[in-house]
Amino acid sequence: MNGLAISDFIAALPKVELHVHIEGTLTPALRWKLAHRNSITLPYATYEDLEASYAVTLNHRPELNGRQPGIPTFLEAYFAGCEVLRTEGDFYDLAMAYLRRCAAMNVRYAEPFFDIQAHTRRGVPATAVLDGYLRAQHDGADQLGVHSRWIMCFLRDEPVEQGLAAYAEARPWAAGTVEGGKGLFHAVGLASNAYERPPMLFEEGFTLAQADGLHVTMHCDFGQKDTHAHMNEAIFQVRNGQGSERIDHGLDAEDQEELWQGLIDRKIGLTLCPHAYHRRTATEVLFPKIRRLAERGVQICINSDDPTLMHDVWIDGNMQKVYTYCGFSKGEMVQLARNAVDMCWAEEEIKHDIYEELRKVDISE
Ligand code: HPA
Ligand code: ZN
Repeated sequence: MNGLAISDFIAALPKVELHVHIEGTLTPALRWKLAHRNSITLPYATYEDLEASYAVTLNHRPELNGRQPGIPTFLEAYFAGCEVLRTEGDFYDLAMAYLRRCAAMNVRYAEPFFDIQAHTRRGVPATAVLDGYLRAQHDGADQLGVHSRWIMCFLRDEPVEQGLAAYAEARPWAAGTVEGGKGLFHAVGLASNAYERPPMLFEEGFTLAQADGLHVTMHCDFGQKDTHAHMNEAIFQVRNGQGSERIDHGLDAEDQEELWQGLIDRKIGLTLCPHAYHRRTATEVLFPKIRRLAERGVQICINSDDPTLMHDVWIDGNMQKVYTYCGFSKGEMVQLARNAVDMCWAEEEIKHDIYEELRKVDISE
């Protein structure tokens, strides 16, 4: 795993994953299989070529860094992968593959993000996406013991009205107080390219979801242009000034006392994905920054983001990174796992069971 072996302690730790994009778990192998199943020609002659395309470091900020000819941006690569997802069965297979992987990594509960607009804008019916994930949500719990509550993301670089229409279409699959809601998603989020797309643009979507009894979270990407201004909106302005319930990434809050103090005062946790930042940030800069946030009392948990597009580093690999490079003790790692239980939106009974498991972890060094 990206230079680090996963220790027995990290492998065995009961885990909760709160920041993973289901489309970012599509493996080259499943993409290859689905391309054949759906008679789609991929721009790779062989499976090995496809696999090699995942090893590249993608351009994250073309607006700031310019384009590198022949190298897709991160989000271009991500959305290109989505092309092979067409039928209910495809979405089911994607989700079940992830939940099986969760079982193998001792992830007990997950809150995966999904991008409904990434599929409907290609002509895929919303029912195919939502029914596929819903069936996997049930089978994952029944067959694998991995429980999940999902998060519908607005694509922030698409028009707001399109996001609101997507929400209206997906709403019958929501939980909360939606009458007859099928219980797939319990929250809305905000994903895709944050460039000049601050959270407050989507305030109507957040308040609609809140009125439906859903939770609200949003990405504040690390090192993005205007990142501190976006954090300010997410902490102090959205949801009529209540702030977001969680923030995805949000690591830049460490730079400004007003922001990290705001996170503490308002009990807003951060879902961090260390490997995502480590691809572009020196070890000596990144991990002390994470440690400082934790030491000041900001609630953080450790997650994976888009593991197959991030050198196959999953939640266990991300936890191993902070265990190794932040120098956290076993007790501190258990606390990080507990933070994820605190921050999650699972049923109380599920939370209780994971707390109990964590209480029994041997933390002697
Ligand atoms: N950042 C923002 N949006 C995303 C990402 C990401 O890393 N992955 C999928 N959607
Ligand atoms: Zn993300």
